[in-house]
Amino acid sequence: KRRIAMMTSGGDSPGMNGATRAVVRYGIERGCEVFCIHEGYEGLVQGGKFIKKMNWSDVRGWLSEGGTLIGTARCMAFYERPGRLKAAKNMVLNGIDALIICGGDGSLTGADKFRAEWPGLLQELVETNELTPEQTEPFKHLNIVGLVGSIDNDMSGTDATIGCYSALSRICEMVDYIEATASSHSRAFVIEVMGRHCGWLALMAGVATGADFVFIPEKPRAENWREEMCRIVAKHREIGKRKTIVIVAEGAHDKDGNKISPDMIKDLLADKNGLALDTRITTLGHVQRGGTACAYDRYLATLQGVEAVNAVLEATPETPTPFIAITENKICRKPLVQAVLDTKEVAKAIEAQDFDKAMGLRDTEFTD
Ligand code: F6P
Repeated sequence: KRRIAMMTSGGDSPGMNGATRAVVRYGIERGCEVFCIHEGYEGLVQGGKFIKKMNWSDVRGWLSEGGTLIGTARCMAFYERPGRLKAAKNMVLNGIDALIICGGDGSLTGADKFRAEWPGLLQELVETNELTPEQTEPFKHLNIVGLVGSIDNDMSGTDATIGCYSALSRICEMVDYIEATASSHSRAFVIEVMGRHCGWLALMAGVATGADFVFIPEKPRAENWREEMCRIVAKHREIGKRKTIVIVAEGAHDKDGNKISPDMIKDLLADKNGLALDTRITTLGHVQRGGTACAYDRYLATLQGVEAVNAVLEATPETPTPFIAITENKICRKPLVQAVLDTKEVAKAIEAQDFDKAMGLRDTEFTD
């Protein structure tokens, strides 16, 4: 009987509970014993009460719950070898040889590294008398499967990450609320949305709400962005618009790499010698990440959770660690390492102002 563990790691995202539910139930359906590791890698390092065997009914009602009910953490101990040794020991003690992790690229990279080190970790545990050779014998290979949970939609190789459409819906709902008050007072609002290195949320929200102007990391504005924005906002006002909405991603900057902050934009819109708009700033913050998952994220999490279990059951020692993607509406497995490398390359390319390269790697086209 296979013993599979499910874990969520890094920032939570809506849909993670749907993924856990799918892994638990489909794993049981396929004859496996399924465990949940609570508090992410921290729980794996600590072991004991953090590793719980799951029953079918334990995940009842989880599809409609926000956040991650099994907890998550950013764990420093796992970055160090002693932490990973403890984690390996806890896996063996619980008879677990397959790990399904739902998290961002950082969390998934950590998992792949763990897999690469696995035989060496077991050997060291035997040499230091932490475990006996008999205990480690059945655990020659470790299976890792990644599920990408992130509101940012920042992973290369997949069209959507679990949680991104829920966050996008939430942003649109909030912008709708803001628009009502903005319109009443004929005001301007600068709305900051999440997305450190990825402007997907800001861009999609801009399109979906008909915002006046959007700032994203992937398309730093030219030096004259101030004039450009004011010209467009003025034009919209001239044709009768009573509200102005500017959406700015956390990671937005200009072509010289200077951060474009909501305050800068506000000062510009409010400038008495310019547009002189009564302007407010709203930072949406963590409302974007919390709350229930939208229908699409529940569906995505469920289908991908099922595929993750299939990937565990079909893996061979030679299979490169996969992650579960959705590409052109099809759920598929892809090599994790390549996607993580591409994701990192995108971040580097953005930092180096090589936007064509960044967009090529994301397989996305941005036009003016
Ligand atoms: O990576 C997801 C994300 O929501 C980012 O968009 C945001 O910058 C970050 O997490 C916030 O992290 P924290 O909750 O740790 O402040």
